Amino acid sequence: MDLKDHIRGIPDFPKPGILFYDISTLLREADAWQVAMGRMARAVRAYMPDLVAGMESRGFLVAAPLALKLGCGFIMIRKRGKLPGDTIGYNYALEYGEDRVEIQADAVQPGQRVVVVDDLLATGGTMAAGIALLRQVGAVVPAAATLIELAALNGRAKLDVPCEALVTYAD
Ligand code: PRP
Ligand code: MG
Repeated sequence: MDLKDHIRGIPDFPKPGILFYDISTLLREADAWQVAMGRMARAVRAYMPDLVAGMESRGFLVAAPLALKLGCGFIMIRKRGKLPGDTIGYNYALEYGEDRVEIQADAVQPGQRVVVVDDLLATGGTMAAGIALLRQVGAVVPAAATLIELAALNGRAKLDVPCEALVTYAD
């Protein structure tokens, strides 16, 4: 199965000139969704994670079912101000301005292996922030994984771990 047949590109969203890769069509197709999660589980299992971390919000859609498939726990890396209790934050630059993601300070035990997962790798800023946060709370991060990679933006170059991608668009 070619997963690209189940992902649609929507031009000029959210801004003119941006082609938005919409995974709604993949998620609502039971067979395609099963295939995608099965492939992701096969790719990620080799890194022997104890936990899977998802990047809010679309990353949760991929990371939580992946964790279930792998028999791992799941942890959330959320946008600012959403997580209760002690948190650690990481600010990162966007094209215009800055964003911040947070993790609960007790999310992992020191040395636990955590694979960080998102739906899409573009510039790599989000995934790199997730990796940095996980390390700050004591995790070992053997890899990252994404459903979609936009190769032209070279997000991979921002990551110092291997990144598994199910579908790659050249531009
Ligand atoms: C999108 C996407 C990734 C991120 C990739 O999230 O889901 O998380 O951008 O971009 P990057 O590699 O350049 O950092 P978005 O911030 O649009 O929010 P959402 O997941 O809450 O929809
Ligand atoms: Mg996102």
